[in-house]
Order: sequence, then structure tokens, then C-alpha cells
Amino acid sequence: LSTSTPLELGQKYFQLFPNDREAIWQNPCIDKRHQEIWSKEKTCDRLPNFLIIGPQKTGTTALYMFIKMHPSVVSSLPSATAYEEVQFFNGANYQRGLDWYMEFFPPQLNHSTQVLFEKSACYFAAEPAAWRAYALLPHAKLITVLINPADRAYSWYQHQRAHHDTTAFNHTFFEVVSAGPTASLTLRSLQNHCLQPGWYAYHLERWLHHFPPAQLLIVDGHQLRANPAEVLDVIQSFLELKPYFNYTKALTFDPEKGFWCQVEGGKSQCLGSGKGRMYPEMDRESRKFLAGYYYEHNIRLSKTLTRLGYSLPAWLHDHLTRNR
Ligand code: A3P
Repeated sequence: LSTSTPLELGQKYFQLFPNDREAIWQNPCIDKRHQEIWSKEKTCDRLPNFLIIGPQKTGTTALYMFIKMHPSVVSSLPSATAYEEVQFFNGANYQRGLDWYMEFFPPQLNHSTQVLFEKSACYFAAEPAAWRAYALLPHAKLITVLINPADRAYSWYQHQRAHHDTTAFNHTFFEVVSAGPTASLTLRSLQNHCLQPGWYAYHLERWLHHFPPAQLLIVDGHQLRANPAEVLDVIQSFLELKPYFNYTKALTFDPEKGFWCQVEGGKSQCLGSGKGRMYPEMDRESRKFLAGYYYEHNIRLSKTLTRLGYSLPAWLHDHLTRNR
């Protein structure tokens, strides 16, 4: 029996498996052999039990804030770069490794009741996020929030304008969504961010390729906006949270904000001005264009939802019957 230096072994490995260039982080505690070589000082308790995967602009921040109110639920610690989001599975942070990710989760004080989670809304549409999340957290539950993809696209456009994105400022929403292949790169990129996350069935199927359907909850974002307490009851039972938390008492509708807010010290505590923005309604031309654009996607979504045993959200039912 002979061996080589680590460097030589590494080179040999990549000659044999050239596609394995990227690291894949798995939970060391799932495989006994990994656990044996894992430092004794480390623990696998600092990993989330569930993820809110997005997509962006569907109400994920409201959901994040409301779920956090539950006494057994503990969120990831804030990230210096992306507010409340860790954004590990989607992009470059993945290369920072497992220790980097686990640092976001406070050590568990009471193992039996605490449920850890993180919300990174860009996971939903990011190609590598599903298989990476499954490799590390095969038993995690996932929550996704879907709204009419046309409204989602418009909300993203308004978000970019509010952040002084020059492309969003220099083009109407219609110019953005209807831009052709010869449009500038910046316009195409903004168009992509508006449209692509709304291919809901396509993204859902990718997640469902890895995770069993029983681990995924699809929330209607319009219902979350209109009646969050009802939606949070469904979520509590999906996550098997204990004790039962009465969201009807914990949330109040704030007429000034026009949204549901948390009750804190007898006052309503709403999300900041960046969530629930005031802007003009979408113009009819864009609405019509997007109804055509998303028609096939929404048919596919309706089939996926039916297969999974969901009734169709009102916005989806409306879209499919009106445009038949
Ligand atoms: P708009 O600001 O375009 O209205 P996300 O947190 O995923 O980025 O989603 C932001 C959207 O959440 C907001 O988009 C708003 O419509 C929606 N939302 C749903 N419930 C809300 C709430 N209780 N407070 C504020 N925004 C809420």
C-alpha cells in the first residue's frame, strides 16, 4: 500500500472527477465517517431547520418578521452585507464554507423546542441553490411565497427605481419587460431580474427534483398580505411549531401603512418604507404584455399546484380563465 502527498492526491482526484471542481457542503453529522473526523468542538446544531427561499418581492420580509415572533423560532443573525439575508446557497458565499454559514446561527439553548431558520429570497430562482441546500439540509422544510408574477416583476422594477438604478429610471416598465434581444446589456439584465424569477413552475420543479413535496410549503403571497394570521396558522402546523402562537392577537392592520404590522407594546410596528411602497398602478399595456408572457408558465404552475394537492390561488385562476 502506498500513498501520495495531499497535493498529488488532489491532482489525481480532479483528473478522475473533473466535474467535481466545486465544493459541496454536506452535514458532517449525517455520515458517521464525516462526524468522526469533524472537530469535537463543532456541533451540527447550528444549521437551520427551515428556509424561506423567496422569490424576492413576494412578501418574504413580512413573513420573516412574523414567523420570528413565534417563541420557539430563532432566525439567523443579521448579515453585514445583505441585511437579514445570509445568501449562502445561491452565489459566492457558498465558497466561504460551512463554518461561515454555521456562524449565522446561534448555538441552541434548548434542543427540544428551538427551530432555526433563515430567509434568503434569491434562493428560489438561483440554479445551484436547490441541490446545494439539499446536500447540506436534506431534512429542512422550505417555504416559498408566490404572487402574480406580473406584480412581482413590477414590484422589482419599482424597487430598482427606489434604489436609483439608472436603467430603471431611464426606461418605462413596458420598455423593460418588452425589450428585445438587441437591447443594451443593462436593460436586458433588469428585464431578466423582473421576469425570470416569475417562471414559478420551472423553479419549483428544480426544488422538487431534490426535496420531497412534503417538505415544501407554497404560500399564496396575496393571502399572506390580506390575512397573515390565517397563513401563519398553516405555517405553524407545517413546521409543527409548539406552543401554538396566536397571530390574530400579535398582528394588527395599520390603515396608514395599508398593511398588517406587528403589535409591540400596544402599538403597531410596521415594516420600513422599502416594503409596501407607494407607486402608480401598472399600466394596461404592460399588464397585457405580461399576461401573454406568463400564460404558459402559469398553466404549468397550475398543473404543478394541482399535482401537489393545492387549490389554485385566485390570481392564478383569474389569469388562466381570462386569457383562455
Ligand atoms: P411592494 O413594496 O412592491 O408593495 P419582499 O419582502 O419579498 O421583498 O416583498 C416586498 C413586498 O411585500 C412589498 O412589495 C409588499 O407588497 C409585500 N408585503 C406583504 N405583506 C406586507 C406587510 N405586512 N408589510 C409590508 N409589505 C408587505
